[in-house]
Amino acid sequence: MSIVKKCLFPAAGYGTRFLPATKAIPKEMLPVLTKPLLQYGVEEAIEAGLNTMAIVTGRGKRSIEDHFDISYELEHQIKGTAKESYLTEIRNVINACTFSYTRQVEMKGLGHAILTGETLIGNEPFAVVLADDLCDNKTDGVLSQMVKLYEKYKCCVVAVEEISPEDSNKYGVIAGDTIADEKYAKGSLVRVNDMVEKPDPKDAPSNLAIIGRYILTPDIFDVLRETKPGKAGEIQITDALLEMAKIGKVIAYKFDGTRFDCGSVDGFVQATNYFYEKGDK
Ligand code: UTP
Repeated sequence: MSIVKKCLFPAAGYGTRFLPATKAIPKEMLPVLTKPLLQYGVEEAIEAGLNTMAIVTGRGKRSIEDHFDISYELEHQIKGTAKESYLTEIRNVINACTFSYTRQVEMKGLGHAILTGETLIGNEPFAVVLADDLCDNKTDGVLSQMVKLYEKYKCCVVAVEEISPEDSNKYGVIAGDTIADEKYAKGSLVRVNDMVEKPDPKDAPSNLAIIGRYILTPDIFDVLRETKPGKAGEIQITDALLEMAKIGKVIAYKFDGTRFDCGSVDGFVQATNYFYEKGDK
């Protein structure tokens, strides 16, 4: 059993880039083919050996709780028919883990959402998945790769990917020193010493952007409590992680796999085509 057991899903954001679809439906419940984004994220966490899903929700997000629960009426209706198989995957998810929820009352940013989740996480290392970053890999999932890395280095791990310079203002961008580790491809591990949230291309410290997968140690909560609102007046996880990076406690990892930014219409369409072609229909 993995020493990382809990996975936090911040899912309280407004999803304004997907209005009007997200007016009454949480962004995390938008489906790629027949499966909501959040279910992909939960399945990735289960594959990584995690069994406790902690979800930070907000107003208008009740469909998330209903999705990860039995619908007796529906079960009764389709029992014994060919359609029963449509529910197999979600039933397996419900049986494989537990779900707990807390609400972020004011949307004060990703860092604040993670701090809100402290009550569900407690004093142990945990994963964070932003479900609108949909990841896929032929072998081990991204979170599974990161848990292995955590077990070796026992510090915060952020997943990064190379971006075009003009996209730097959409991401947290890192810089640091390459870690030599014979188990990993050259350049794929970086000891982070700088991090900037959504920099202009001219101010970006590198072309390595953080995507929505993190392994965090519980001392991040103390740092977050002290973190002042940053970019856009929100409490940024990037600012808190920079404090941890200053004492050498953050590794960036260039993961194996593909990521789709399903928080944007382009990324969502690409993901849909990708999974359709792959045959996940
Ligand atoms: P995003 O900025 O991508 O999500 O936050 P958003 O604000 O919902 O989307 P847009 O930009 O308006 O379209 C990244 C993740 O952090 C969560 C979001 O739900 C998303 O999963 N989040 C963000 C919170 O849970 N609380 C917040 O206060 C902000």
